[in-house]
Amino acid sequence: MASENLDQAAIIAAARALEAGALVAFPTETVYGLGADAESPAAVAAIYAAKGRPQDHPVIVHLAPDAPLDYWAIDIPVEAHALAEAFWPGPLTMILKRAPNIPDAVSGGQDTVGLRCPSHPVAIALLRAFKGGKGGVAAPSANKFGAVSPTLAQHVRDEFGQDGTVAMVLDGGASQVGIESTIVDLSRLATHGPVLLRPGHISLDAIAAVIDRVPAAPDAAAPRASGTLESHYAPHTPVAMQDSATLHQTLAELAAAGRKVALIHYSDMPSTHAALRLPATPDGFAHALYAALRAMDGHGADVILVEAPPQGGAWLGVNDRLRRAAHGSTGIVHGLLNQSTPHSPAA
Ligand code: TXA
Ligand code: MG
Repeated sequence: MASENLDQAAIIAAARALEAGALVAFPTETVYGLGADAESPAAVAAIYAAKGRPQDHPVIVHLAPDAPLDYWAIDIPVEAHALAEAFWPGPLTMILKRAPNIPDAVSGGQDTVGLRCPSHPVAIALLRAFKGGKGGVAAPSANKFGAVSPTLAQHVRDEFGQDGTVAMVLDGGASQVGIESTIVDLSRLATHGPVLLRPGHISLDAIAAVIDRVPAAPDAAAPRASGTLESHYAPHTPVAMQDSATLHQTLAELAAAGRKVALIHYSDMPSTHAALRLPATPDGFAHALYAALRAMDGHGADVILVEAPPQGGAWLGVNDRLRRAAHGSTGIVHGLLNQSTPHSPAA
């Protein structure tokens, strides 16, 4: 987006609303965020209330480019500065030890803080206008707890539309990346090394190339991340993933059983009740995924079937989100094939 297209008046109004303690939804390159003044425990509490999210879940603090990290965090390892230099502004969140002056409301009582400088021009303009660029905007994804994250302003309006809890929704078009930021924990670097809490567009390899160490999978003692709850990012319709060959067979069987399938795929497939074909690249698939899940959720289908993407490292973020979306729907295809169909009487 060219900077002359930024609605400066709306951005200034949004910054003043944040300073007054209100909630503002704003675009980032990953997903839309539901923002509040990170240093106001009351404003942060309003985010939890609006989302219906438990109070002990930490939120990411968004910073303007070149904001001093040492205002927000202590014991900052050189690796954090190197990663910020390499990937900020951009879709990387770092977990660091929280500075004592930062209220524990943003970290759900943990002694850490999640920091990220987003690259979307509207987000940057908002962060520069808010408290003269010296503040932090706490922002989880702008969706109700457990639901699919928004990648369009309309998604946010659909979810928080008329209830008055969100003062403004800034519109910055479709989020480029489409899935949430990569989260790397550097708060226990000396004892545990870097830990990947959530995969995203910034890959393990890209991080390893900067800090010479590949982040490990989280252990039981790693900081809690709500995006790592199994049932996250789920639409209302059950979701199942199948490899391309199995999917062909399943589509035929479900059609024969009179079932309605909403299909998300990237290779040639037979026609179904509803379908969306996404690009067969990790970046293209991620960009379109959440809008596709929302759209397919609106077709009254019995199941959303997703053609399982490849397993390579670049697909880690997409596979992670799909696995979570499908969690809780185990056995759905089998059930649909074996229960009585909508067209035949119960046995
Ligand atoms: O791309 C993103 O990260 C988006 C945009 C709006 O920036 N935000 C986002 O926020 O995904 P949310 O709240 O939906 O997910 C943030 C994740 C959660 O899993 C949260 O638990 C984790 O970050 N997190 C935040 N601060 C943390 C901390 N101090 N320790 C551990 N995890 C933390
Ligand atoms: Mg979220």
